[in-house]
Amino acid sequence: MRVLVTGGAGFIGSHISHVLIESGHDVTVLDNLSRGRRDLVPASAQFVEADLADEAATEAALRGHDAVIHLASFLEVAVSVERPVLFAENNIVNSVRLLEAMRRAGVSKIVFSSSATVYGIPERLPLREDDALGMQANPYGATKVAVEAFLGVYHQLYGFDCVLLRYFNPYGPNELCDPETHAVPNIVRAALERRPVPVYWQGEQKRDYIYVEDLARAHIVALEVQGFEVFNIGTEVGTKVIDIIETVSRILGYEVQIDDLGERPGDVEASYASSEKLRKQLGWQAEVDLEEGLRRTIAHYRERLGIAE
Ligand SMILES: NC(=O)c1ccc[n+]([C@@H]2O[C@H](COP(=O)([O-])OP(=O)(O)OC[C@H]3O[C@@H](n4cnc5c(N)ncnc54)[C@H](O)[C@@H]3O)[C@@H](O)[C@H]2O)c1
Repeated sequence: MRVLVTGGAGFIGSHISHVLIESGHDVTVLDNLSRGRRDLVPASAQFVEADLADEAATEAALRGHDAVIHLASFLEVAVSVERPVLFAENNIVNSVRLLEAMRRAGVSKIVFSSSATVYGIPERLPLREDDALGMQANPYGATKVAVEAFLGVYHQLYGFDCVLLRYFNPYGPNELCDPETHAVPNIVRAALERRPVPVYWQGEQKRDYIYVEDLARAHIVALEVQGFEVFNIGTEVGTKVIDIIETVSRILGYEVQIDDLGERPGDVEASYASSEKLRKQLGWQAEVDLEEGLRRTIAHYRERLGIAE
């Protein structure tokens, strides 16, 4: 297939682009490089530097493609609270612009990067795709709910094939923004720099950490789906932050210290997925366990930060 990946120069999109090429697909990456990096785009992918707000450029880039994998968005939760309009414009309005450009260009298959955040505070665990969507605690989450709703509309009105992939907690090489808000890159960086790791709730919160290459592979099987489908992507295991810190300590061979920041109101205590639907319908399964994923992540950040063993 010819696949256009929006946001393909970013953390997750760069891995998806590589896996697509390895699987024999032709890839075009469309990214405005507001966050992503050109050097993360595979050499054999076509690269279009454009902003989704530019409808003509998006439509031109889309012509001749069979499918879109849509990742381009902003994602820093705290910034979304400060700047909800920016988030609504870039994540919601630009997604609708993309859908309109797809319609004009005759492309009607889309895989969307949604998030476990759409469930709000879990009423039961593990979270399943037919659980109700929850009230959102920040504008970022609201943008995911809104785009999911628009995809339903394009499926109903125009027969688009839409696959909504609700990611749990992706981690792995190519992340590490400045400032970084996600747990794993912050833990690994602090550990490599021999600084205490700042943690809330004494690290007792549980999340479902999915290695980015496993996550990327799920997009390949999602391209086969027709109709409108939702899939969770997680390992189905709730791992405490403190367990990650202990695993990193074991890999590095020294005890990583923590800096306990106390309680943070509004945090969800535990969240993890049932990915049974993806396993049964599409045969996908997470393959990289936490220790192996952390080893690869540490090796990557060690090289990137220039920290010798
Ligand atoms: N990283 C996570 O923990 C996580 C969890 C759940 C869902 N997601 C979703 O996965 C997707 C990718 O996340 P990521 O972690 O790779 O983020 P990222 O910031 O590394 O990648 C996003 C990419 O989109 C590009 N972009 C943003 N706005 C654009 C625009 N208007 N036009 C063109 N390009 C634009 C950025 O330059 C960047 O390369 C996002 O939709 C995010 O909401 C991420």
